[in-house]
Formats: sequence, structure tokens, C-alpha cells
Amino acid sequence: MSLKEYVRDIQDFPKKGILFKDITPLLMSPEATNECLQILIENLKNKRIDKVIGVESRGFFFATLLAHELQAGFVPVRKAGKLPFDTVSASYTLEYGTDTLEIHADAIQKGDKVLIHDDVLATGGTIKAVCELVEKLGGEIVQVNFLMELTFLNGGDKIAGYERFAALQY
Ligand code: PRP
Ligand code: MG
Repeated sequence: MSLKEYVRDIQDFPKKGILFKDITPLLMSPEATNECLQILIENLKNKRIDKVIGVESRGFFFATLLAHELQAGFVPVRKAGKLPFDTVSASYTLEYGTDTLEIHADAIQKGDKVLIHDDVLATGGTIKAVCELVEKLGGEIVQVNFLMELTFLNGGDKIAGYERFAALQY
């Protein structure tokens, strides 16, 4: 079975006109999850990574696996008001709505080599805000990676200055 067969299309979720890419079938399969993980890891060969950022909430699943595999620290970026310690924040426009993301102020040291991970690159608003957060703290973004990129939304344009990789393209 190809990896794409583990991603389920849900029409009109969470709103009419949105085609939601549901990765829960992929997460339920240890083989598909591992295949996906290895594809992402393969693309990071010989790159030093100190911290892996996972974007709440669907970015958390693979970011923790990547951090473990790379023997790097895991850092959550969360929606406003969820992190308990001192934070820095950035606001962004989403495919459906607007939101604010936060990171702990002590999560990245100046010069840390950082991998940013999220499940989907759609319009790019989310990931651009995450890049801002990492750079505010002095982190060096080595790569931004995704399980999938929805290429027709051109989100890559918003993060054109960074190395980007997606295991699946739509
Ligand atoms: C979705 C998805 C990405 C983001 C992509 O997250 O998981 O994080 O949207 O959209 P963009 O490229 O247009 O910004 P969402 O905010 O729906 O929350 P969730 O991960 O908690 O489900
Ligand atoms: Mg998300």
C-alpha cells in the first residue's frame, strides 16, 4: 500500500469547502508511520539538529518521533495560553481563521540548529509564524518539514527562504 492510501480525504471538514487530510489511518499503522518517519529522516542525513519543534496539535505526533530518532530535544509550539512558563508569541492567518502561537522563552538557545515539523503545509501562515518564533529566540532553522504539502495553495512561497521537505505532495 502506498503512503497516500493511509491519508483519508474528508470533504467539508471542519468547514464547507475544506478538504481535510485525515492522517489517523496512517498513525494507526506502525508500518506506514515508520515508512513516513524514515523518509523524513533520510532527508536530514548528515545534518546536525539540536531541537525539533512540533506545532500543536497535529505536528506533535511526528515531531516527537523525529526528535527521538535524531536524539534531539523536543520543543512544543502551542496555541495561546497553553504554555505555563515565560513565552514569546506570533500571530498568523490560517486556512480557516486566525490564531496566536507561543513558545517557551528558554526552549531555544542562540545558535541552536532547529528542525521545524508540522503535519501539513497549506497556506503557510502557521509555519511562517513558527519560523518567526524560532528566529526571535536566536535559533538557526536547518529545515522545515511536513508529512504533506498542499502545493496548489502555494504555502511554500511564505517560507521561501528556508529548506523545506514534505514526505507527500498533493
Ligand atoms: C492545520 C495543520 C497545520 C496548519 C496548516 O492545523 O495541522 O498546522 O493547519 O495550515 P496553514 O499552512 O494554512 O497555516 P490547525 O490549526 O487546524 O490545528 P490542529 O493541528 O490543532 O488540528
Ligand atoms: Mg496544525
